[in-house]
Amino acid sequence: MRLLLLNAGPIATIDNGDPTIPLKGADMSDTEKLTLPRGYGILIENGIVNKIGQTDSLNNEFGSEDTESLSVIDCNNQAIIPGFVDSHTHLLWDGDRANEMHLRQQGLSYSDIANLGGGITKTVEFTRNAPIENLIELGRKRIARAMNLGTTTMECKSGYGLDRQSEIKLLEASHILGGKTHLDIHSTWLGAHDFPKGMKSGDYVESLISDQLPSVAEQGYAKYCDVFCEPGWFTLEQTEEIVNAAKIHGLTPRLHVDEFVDGNGLQLAAELGAVSGDHVGHSSDDAREYASQSGTMQTFLPGTPYVLGDQLNSPLRSCVDNNWQFSLATDFNPNCRTLSIPFVGSLATHRLNLSPLEALVAVTRNPATTLIETTDLLVPGSIREGGPADLLILNSEHIDAWCQMPGDNPIKQTIKSGQVM
Ligand code: NIG
Ligand code: FE
Repeated sequence: MRLLLLNAGPIATIDNGDPTIPLKGADMSDTEKLTLPRGYGILIENGIVNKIGQTDSLNNEFGSEDTESLSVIDCNNQAIIPGFVDSHTHLLWDGDRANEMHLRQQGLSYSDIANLGGGITKTVEFTRNAPIENLIELGRKRIARAMNLGTTTMECKSGYGLDRQSEIKLLEASHILGGKTHLDIHSTWLGAHDFPKGMKSGDYVESLISDQLPSVAEQGYAKYCDVFCEPGWFTLEQTEEIVNAAKIHGLTPRLHVDEFVDGNGLQLAAELGAVSGDHVGHSSDDAREYASQSGTMQTFLPGTPYVLGDQLNSPLRSCVDNNWQFSLATDFNPNCRTLSIPFVGSLATHRLNLSPLEALVAVTRNPATTLIETTDLLVPGSIREGGPADLLILNSEHIDAWCQMPGDNPIKQTIKSGQVM
C-alpha cells in the first residue's frame, strides 16, 4: 500500500548529513538545509519515504493509480515535520500523586515529600500492587494520547517496582505495549530509581546487581540502564558500580544526573560512556563541554522544574552557542504528567529562548541518535528518502506552529511507519 501526500506546506526535513549524528550549534537553525518550501509532496511505500518531489511531478507520476493501492492526502499547504522522539519517559506506573502540589505550596521540597513517604515511594506502592493487565491498559491509553500529540518513538523506563518481580513486570508491560501499539518503544531498566522502604542503601545496590540485573538481562527487553544519580539518592560511586555491572550484561547507560544540584553526575555519565545525561539542570560548563566531546547527549526536561515550581533556567542558548549537543524530552511521570512534546517545545521557545527550528531538532533528530545502533539506516527523527515514514501534518501553514499552541494540539495528523493514526 502506498500513501501520497500532496500540496504540502513547508516541510521540516531536518535532513542534513548522516542522520545518526546529532546536530549542534548553528547547524540547528540552518533553514536552508533543514527545510523545504511549500509545494512539495511525499510518496510513502511500505512504511518508508520513497520519494520527495514537487507536488505536480509526483501527481503526474502516481496520482492516477487506482485507490486500492494508493491513498492520497491533500495537505492543503499545512506544514509537515518529523514525528517526535520522546527520549525520557516514565510511562508505566499506577496511582495518583496530585496531592503533592499542595504540599509543595506549603513549602515542602521534592526531597521533603520523598522523606515523608510521598514521591517515588508512594508510586511504588501502587505500582507493585497493580496487575500487569492494568499497567498495560494505562500504558495503552497514555500511548494513544502521546501519538495524538505527535510522538512516534518513545523511551520508556521501569523504576516504580524496585524489586525483581515488579521491575520485570514493568519491562514486560512495555514490551507487550510495543507489540500492541504502533509506537516504537525503547525500554530502560531503572531499578536504581530509589531505595525501597526499609532497605539499607548498600543492601539495595547489592541486590540490584546480584538479583535484579541478571533477571533483567535474561528477560532481554531492556536495552538501557538508568540510575537516579543525585545527592540523597544514588551516589556517584553507587552509580558507577551499577552501570559497570549493567554494561557487562550489555545494557547501555542513560542517566538521571544533576537535577537539583551539581553533583558531578554529567561528568560521570560521560566518563561511563552514557548515551545521554538527563535533567542536567545544574551541571557545570566543564562537564557540558566534556560530555559534548565524549558524545554524551545532554537531555533537558523543562517540564519537571515547571511543575515543581523551580526556576526555568536550562541553559539551552548556551548549548547552542557552545556547540554542545542537546535534546529535550517530557520526563512524563506521576508528578510531571505531560506527554506533550509540543508543550516542552513551548517552554523551550516561549521561555528559554530557543528558536522553533532549534527546538524541533532537539525533539526529533537529536534524541533519535541516542536510541539507535549507529549503523541503523532506519533511524527516525528526519524526513528523507529511504528513511522511516514517521511524520506529522500540522494544523498550520508554518513549521514554527509545532510549539506555539500551549495547552492545545498543533498536530492534525500523525503518520507512523506510513500509517495514518
Ligand atoms: O525524572 N527524579 C527522578 N525521577 C523522576 C521523578 C519521579 C517521581 O517523582 O515519581 C524524574 O523527574
Ligand atoms: Fe525522569
